[in-house]
Amino acid sequence: MKRIGMLTSGGDCQALNAAMRGVVKTLFNSGEQVEIYGFLEGYRGLIYGNFQMLTSKDFSGILTKGGTILGSSRTPFKTIQDPDENGLDKVEAMKQNYYKLKLDVLVILGGNGTHKTANLLRTEGLNVVTLPKTIDNDLWGTDMTFGFQSAVNIATDCIDCIHTTAASHGRIFIVEIMGHKVGWLPLNAGMAGGADIILLPEIPYDIDKICEAIKIRHERGAGFTIIAVAEGAISKEKAAMSKKELKKLMENYPYPSVSYEVADEIKKKTGQDVRVTVPGHTQRGGSPCPYDRVFASRLGAEAGSLILKGEYGFMVGYRNREIVKVPLEDVAGKLKTLSPDAPIIKEAKLLGISFGD
Ligand code: F6P
Repeated sequence: MKRIGMLTSGGDCQALNAAMRGVVKTLFNSGEQVEIYGFLEGYRGLIYGNFQMLTSKDFSGILTKGGTILGSSRTPFKTIQDPDENGLDKVEAMKQNYYKLKLDVLVILGGNGTHKTANLLRTEGLNVVTLPKTIDNDLWGTDMTFGFQSAVNIATDCIDCIHTTAASHGRIFIVEIMGHKVGWLPLNAGMAGGADIILLPEIPYDIDKICEAIKIRHERGAGFTIIAVAEGAISKEKAAMSKKELKKLMENYPYPSVSYEVADEIKKKTGQDVRVTVPGHTQRGGSPCPYDRVFASRLGAEAGSLILKGEYGFMVGYRNREIVKVPLEDVAGKLKTLSPDAPIIKEAKLLGISFGD
C-alpha cells in the first residue's frame, strides 16, 4: 500500500492535471494498492489539513483540462518559516499532517518558490517527488517546464492577431508578455509571432535604440512595428540603479506596467501612435497544447515510477531530450535565466530582431 499526498502550488498553468493524471495512472496500473490524498490550494491545504481523498475516477477526463483540480495558491517561501496569524508553525503543521495521514510521499507540482519549500520539507525528513510547472520555463535543472509551450502558443496567437490589425492601420503595437525575471516566454512568442523588437528582463533596453529600429523599418517601407515586451523588461537607466534607488523611483511610477512607459516614450520621441495589448493571465489559461499534454504525462509517468521504486528527493525533469531525475537540493533556489549571449539571441539578431540594446 502506498499513501500519496499531492498538491499544486504557485501560479497555475496548463497541463497540471495531465501531469497528476500521469502519476496516478502509473501508480494504479502497477497493481499496487494506492491511496491518494489531494491537498487543496497548494501548501495551504497541507498546512491546515485541508484535503480530499481521490480515486482514479477523479483523474479521468482531465488530460485536456486547464487549471488544477486541486486548486492552487501562492505560499511565499520567504515567510514559510514564520508563524501564521494565529501563531501556527507552518512547517511543523505540514510535517504533522504528513505523519498523521501516514503518507509515503508528497507529490508536489510547482515552480521556483514551490521547489524551495519542497526542498525544505525534504530536509525536514519528508519524502518528496516534484514536477516542474510554469509558463516561465525558468526552473533550473530542466530544459523545459510544462505550461511553457501552451503559453507560447497563446502569446503567439495574440501577436498574430495584432499583426493583421497593425498592418491594416500602419501602427506601432506593443504586446506585453508574462515573464518578470526571465524572458523565455516573450522571446519565443516574439520570435514565433514575427515581432520586430523584443524587450527582455535580461537585456536592458535603450529607448533611442528602439526608436531607431522603428525608423529603419519605416525607411524600408514597413508601415507598422510589433514590439513584444516582457513584463519585467527594464531600461538601461533603471538597470544601472541600486535596488534602493529603483524602489524609490517606482513608488511614484505613473504607468500600469512597463509597456505603457515604452509606448509613451516612443510617442514622445517619434510622434507616432502606439497601442498596447496585454494578454495577461490568458497565457496561463485554457487547455494544454498537445506538446504539454504529452510532456506532462511523460513526467507524471516517471514520477509514478520513482514512487513505486521508493526513490524520493527528486524533481522529474527533462535534459538533452531525456526525462531525468534531478536532486531537489540542486534545483531549489536557482533560476534558469536566459543569457544575452545565448545562441537563440544571436540568431534572432541575425534575423533582424532588435532587443533595444
Ligand atoms: O506563474 C508565473 C507567472 O504567470 C508569471 O509569468 C507572472 O509574472 C506571474 O506568474 C503572475 O502572477 P499572479 O498570477 O500572482 O499575478
